[in-house]
Amino acid sequence: MEADISKTQQSNFTFQEVLRLRKSCRGFLETKVPNDIITSVLEDAHLAPSNCNTQPWETHIISGDKLRELSEALLRENNAQRFTPDFSFDTDEYHGRYKERYFNLAKTHYEGFGIKREDQEGRKEVSDLNYKFFNAPYLAIPFMPSFGDNVRVGGDIGMYGQTFLLSLTAHGLAGIPQTALGFFAETIRGILNVPEELKMLFGISFGYADPTAPGNSFKLGRDPIGSNVIFHQ
Ligand SMILES: Cc1cc2nc3c(=O)[nH]c(=O)nc-3n(C[C@H](O)[C@H](O)[C@H](O)COP(=O)(O)O)c2cc1C
Repeated sequence: MEADISKTQQSNFTFQEVLRLRKSCRGFLETKVPNDIITSVLEDAHLAPSNCNTQPWETHIISGDKLRELSEALLRENNAQRFTPDFSFDTDEYHGRYKERYFNLAKTHYEGFGIKREDQEGRKEVSDLNYKFFNAPYLAIPFMPSFGDNVRVGGDIGMYGQTFLLSLTAHGLAGIPQTALGFFAETIRGILNVPEELKMLFGISFGYADPTAPGNSFKLGRDPIGSNVIFHQ
């Protein structure tokens, strides 16, 4: 089911429309978002469920000069390959159908940007857009405390992140979760003055989508649910 795009400035979508309208946005307008809308999104996200209702998120919203400072630092650190992630991430670990889906994403992504697979320079330029927040005027980072192996708290942050993203869509906004930002967790903590105890999985760039941006020219599909669901009786 395709939702009616003309309704994007209103917030009266059905739940099914919100789910189907949401997609990762890779090109934003500079348009500012009214503070009350940002607060409303934060209130929605805060309703996310969490293990033992621990609500283990401390969300930082960054914009303006601070966002520009962050972008410059991230581009610099990325060029110098000075990665400081809190958690490991290696796409070489994907196998079988997960690897196929990852390859399909990469192909769709680079084709959408008009970049050839062998064009290393073009790929780097596209990849660097992560550190320009795809031109988004806002970035949200849900920092998290560390408990044990962090798997459960990571799940909680995922619930929070998806609720945040769906709320953005319901408010006529768009966003993209970015693990690429998590590769520089220590750099980001330093700039935002966040204590070492708070960890970071991803950030969410957000704002109003630029419908003409190449990064918004494609939409990732899903395999039929039969490949992911097994019923037991
Ligand atoms: C936790 C998480 C981290 C992600 N990190 C990035 C990222 O760093 N850069 C990027 O371009 N997309 C990133 N994505 C977006 C995924 O590529 C996207 O969700 C997936 O391809 C499905 O597309 P859709 O979100 O448009 O439905 C991330 C998604 C999630 C859930």
